[in-house]
Amino acid sequence: CGIVGYIGFREAWPLVIKGLKRLEYRGYDSAGIALIGDSGLNIYKKAGKVSELENFSVGKNLSGTIGIGHTRWATHGAPSDRNSHPHTSNSGTLSIIHNGIIENYATLKEELLKRGHFFNSDTDTEVLIHLIEEIYKNDDVDLLEAVRLALNEVTGAYAIVVMDQNQPDQLIAARKGSPMVIGVGEDEYFIASDATPIVEYTKNVIYLNDNEIAFVKRDELLIKRLDNVVQTPYIQELEIQLELLEKGGFDHFMLKEIYEQPRSIRDCMRGRIYPNEGFVQLGGIKEYAEKLKNIDRIIIVACGTSWHAGLVGEYLIEEYARIPVEVEYASEFRYRNPIITEKDVVIAISQSGETADTMAAIEMAKEKGATIFGVCNVVGSSIPRLTHAGVYTHAGPEIGVASTKAFTAQVTVLTLIAFYMAQQKGTITKAKMVELLTELDLIPEKIQRALESNDLIKEIAAKFKDSRNCLFLGRGSGFPVALEGALKLKEISYIHAEGYPAAEMKHGPIALIDEEMPVVVIATKNSSYEKVISNIQEVKARKGIVLAIVTEGDTEVKKMADYVIEIPDASEAFLPLLATIPLQLLSYHIAVLRDCNVDQPRNLAKSVTVE
Ligand code: G6P
Repeated sequence: CGIVGYIGFREAWPLVIKGLKRLEYRGYDSAGIALIGDSGLNIYKKAGKVSELENFSVGKNLSGTIGIGHTRWATHGAPSDRNSHPHTSNSGTLSIIHNGIIENYATLKEELLKRGHFFNSDTDTEVLIHLIEEIYKNDDVDLLEAVRLALNEVTGAYAIVVMDQNQPDQLIAARKGSPMVIGVGEDEYFIASDATPIVEYTKNVIYLNDNEIAFVKRDELLIKRLDNVVQTPYIQELEIQLELLEKGGFDHFMLKEIYEQPRSIRDCMRGRIYPNEGFVQLGGIKEYAEKLKNIDRIIIVACGTSWHAGLVGEYLIEEYARIPVEVEYASEFRYRNPIITEKDVVIAISQSGETADTMAAIEMAKEKGATIFGVCNVVGSSIPRLTHAGVYTHAGPEIGVASTKAFTAQVTVLTLIAFYMAQQKGTITKAKMVELLTELDLIPEKIQRALESNDLIKEIAAKFKDSRNCLFLGRGSGFPVALEGALKLKEISYIHAEGYPAAEMKHGPIALIDEEMPVVVIATKNSSYEKVISNIQEVKARKGIVLAIVTEGDTEVKKMADYVIEIPDASEAFLPLLATIPLQLLSYHIAVLRDCNVDQPRNLAKSVTVE
């Protein structure tokens, strides 16, 4: 979910609406805003997108210079008007927005029901605001104290903002396990789940830490911990550029972000690779340079697309640094009893830096003594603050829910980490490093060339758009590319798709192949080229429709495949960076042709801060 709060001298409504639109990637099944204006407290909420809330509010009283807003991704209770935030207390004077889950809400609710509270929604959030009200009723307790005491009774994860109709000069915000940023202006404060709603008003921000609670007035800010110890706020300067948050002439953020990749990958390598010297420099992990010489094992933890990047990382680290790597789904890893020692290095990959399962996996590994590196995109997010060291991907804000440029930036960083480790361990010669880095340096231009197939891909998309299933096959470093291609397609076009190692096809998926089944094959010229050709023949023998991603100038695959898309030639190490591009475009065009909401696919959220 996304939350926005404002207190200051501007009209809150347009500012909060705009902020919610920026945060819509975090959830978009319902939205709501509460404002305190001349006529007191007004709350407007609606199932559906923020634009529906906007339509609904036309002609209503939207005045007020203090307000809170929320865009929801349902956990407790179906998306509906009544389950939308803000929620109110029994008396109706207190309102709250909440991102996260209150785990002990059932017990708290039972207790409150006994005390005569009645509830208007099925949410855990409403229970929390009632609990706050119950404590606030005591004469000697102010709102800050009531929120603090209530949060001490709560287990779970939250970022909340509370507003009191009778105190129109203050907001109370708190966080534990869900992100929250406070923008510091002159006689105004902004509160949000991330910095994107804030950046156009101020560059000065405070990242609230877990277990902190903020008391915010127009000209005053006080931060305390939940144990009542006052904290000194640390103000940081934001580096986000506003234009990266706009579509810039593209129909969708996803397409814009696909086209940004030559630049984002260049940004990701800047100052880190020295092709002539055959040298990689990673300032974020250099403190651990010595340790890397003697590590026995690396564990990569991640979710979703980031997990796919992890698989590419495994391939590269094992190939060049000769260190065994295990790639784990964070959600599985955290609930096993994995064997982790002080000699292990855990690499946590996360675009948002906020994924709840990945954070929990990090905490567990940290407790067992492992060294944790983060590979994150959002600067200042929770995971980089939780890890010992790390390498940012510097892809810039990614707004499309389906990850594109963040994935290729993660793969680039993992490539750099693999080379850096190889350099430390001495498993790679200088000459080989010069060769690899010289090639890596050219990848942004090759991606630019791969993007030139866009029109062709659009035509192919038209042929595939009515398919009900689709198979993606690859081998070696092409296998994670197949997985990612399948994930993209299912995420945004709702076509069922599966990625498979090409040779495994005959152990199952081959049964699905008939004349209607599209099979996308990564068939570039690298070590498994001949073997992939055999796999293509197996598909053709069952009358499947083959779309092959091939190396420029290929003639052999062309004879067999129904469609081919060429990408520039590259070593196997860099194949994932190039082969991913046509698959992103393919999913994009299929989804557009199917009239799907490309940037905000149904049921998904970009940042999953609940487990
Ligand atoms: C969600 C997003 C995916 C993303 C995954 C992991 O499912 O929709 O695009 O890959 O979370 O997110 P992270 O921010 O940790 O990379």
